[in-house]
Amino acid sequence: MSGERVPAPAYTWVPAAAEIAREAGARLREFFAQGVATEYKGDVDVVTIADTTVEKLIRGRLREAFPEHGVYGEEGTRDRMEGAYRWYVDPLDGTTNFAHGFPQFCVSLGLEHRPVGIRPEDDGTLAAAVIYDPMRDELFTAEPGLGAWLNGKPIRVSKVPELAESLISTGFPSRKRHLSPNVHFYHEFTLRSHGVRRAGSAALDLAWTACGRLEAFWEFNLNPWDTAAGILLVTEAGGRVSDFAGGAYKLESREILASNGLIHDELVGLFQDLFAGRDLTPIPTPQEFAARRAARAASELA
Ligand code: IPD
Ligand code: CA
Ligand code: CA
Repeated sequence: MSGERVPAPAYTWVPAAAEIAREAGARLREFFAQGVATEYKGDVDVVTIADTTVEKLIRGRLREAFPEHGVYGEEGTRDRMEGAYRWYVDPLDGTTNFAHGFPQFCVSLGLEHRPVGIRPEDDGTLAAAVIYDPMRDELFTAEPGLGAWLNGKPIRVSKVPELAESLISTGFPSRKRHLSPNVHFYHEFTLRSHGVRRAGSAALDLAWTACGRLEAFWEFNLNPWDTAAGILLVTEAGGRVSDFAGGAYKLESREILASNGLIHDELVGLFQDLFAGRDLTPIPTPQEFAARRAARAASELA
């Protein structure tokens, strides 16, 4: 009910992390307003002064707030990696958008608890999530068992029961683009849903799945700094996260499928069919399309 006062959850890690994410987001807003130059990490993999400056800021603030915690950041931070807690930091998720003045990007902080003795290749458990969208001033937060929240109000995944009625999203890699098969999946999912958005920030795609703006999100080739916070948000909001086969998602899995839970099995089934080459919908080649268009024009002239 609107206007209803909801007591804030008894968070352990979120309050300090949220403050850090807000400060980082404010820096991103300043950089965004002034415009930044772009450098290349790969052929179209861009980085700006904002990415590196804001990672440095977050790294310092996390160290002050949680001196024992590890920090694993996209722009190279690898601090105290043997610690029992590790923050996955994406200082700017959606750099390409940011660099073009397209206002869809965020700060993402995900905390993993890694108990003593855990093998390096094993995942611990996610202990906190903070995703901050500075352009909308939207703060998404979660800790296990306390639900997922947006600006202090609880959020839930959507209740849409089938793909045919869903709005979903994906992203495409900026490295080795020619090796990505995702355009086939994009095509097939587009034909079977209300549409597929490609908005350019995986962390926000996950946060928006958590709050029901999207029914699902998938992507090949992500990193833990893109996904750690978003995974906890989706699961705490009542959704499901897995690999494309429906198996347990690991932070290093790279392939992620997140949904409202209700359409998850349907999506996994579709992935299986598409990987096996079943049920692919033929699409006209540009050449076939051009020939048809020319034939139509000729018949209209006749
Ligand atoms: C990227 C964004 C984008 C996704 C890419 C990511 P970055 O992160 O999340 O939506 O499609 O795969 O690399 O580079 O802007 O932090
Ligand atoms: Ca990212
Ligand atoms: Ca980034």
